[in-house]
Amino acid sequence: MTRVLVLNGPNLGRLGSREPDVYGSGNLDDLRVMLQASAPEGVSIDLRQTNDEGELIGWLYEATDGSIPVVLNPAAFTHYSYALRDAAALVTKAGIPLVEVHISNPHARETFRHSSVISAVATGVIAGFGFDSYRLALDAVLRPRPAGTE
Ligand code: DQA
Repeated sequence: MTRVLVLNGPNLGRLGSREPDVYGSGNLDDLRVMLQASAPEGVSIDLRQTNDEGELIGWLYEATDGSIPVVLNPAAFTHYSYALRDAAALVTKAGIPLVEVHISNPHARETFRHSSVISAVATGVIAGFGFDSYRLALDAVLRPRPAGTE
């Protein structure tokens, strides 16, 4: 069984009621069900959410120590958490894929959302496709990387 950690930062526990015009009407349970249903056989989705930066960092240590691929929606931490960035770098420097995802397209929103302190240490970034961003990211973390692009 391959486990994938799908980690969600602050306020994403409110999906469903939080700005549905931006994030849609599905909640985290809907996301978990959709992702598990679209995961290939033998892949289990371990989806978590926290409002706590330290807890999110601890989960990235868990990914690093256990060689577990990560789909990460850092939410607002995206834009300013150097601590989260350093923890994400531990994952990717260990050769474990970590894809940054966003439900919305932050580049089409307020200026403070245009920069990510995470992207430079992520394996890649997928944004703007609603919950499908996670499905695409799941596909990406499970895919062997083409030679020369590691
Ligand atoms: C988000 C975008 C962030 O700017 C925002 O703070 C979020 C959600 C997204 O998924 O679109 O909480 O990461």
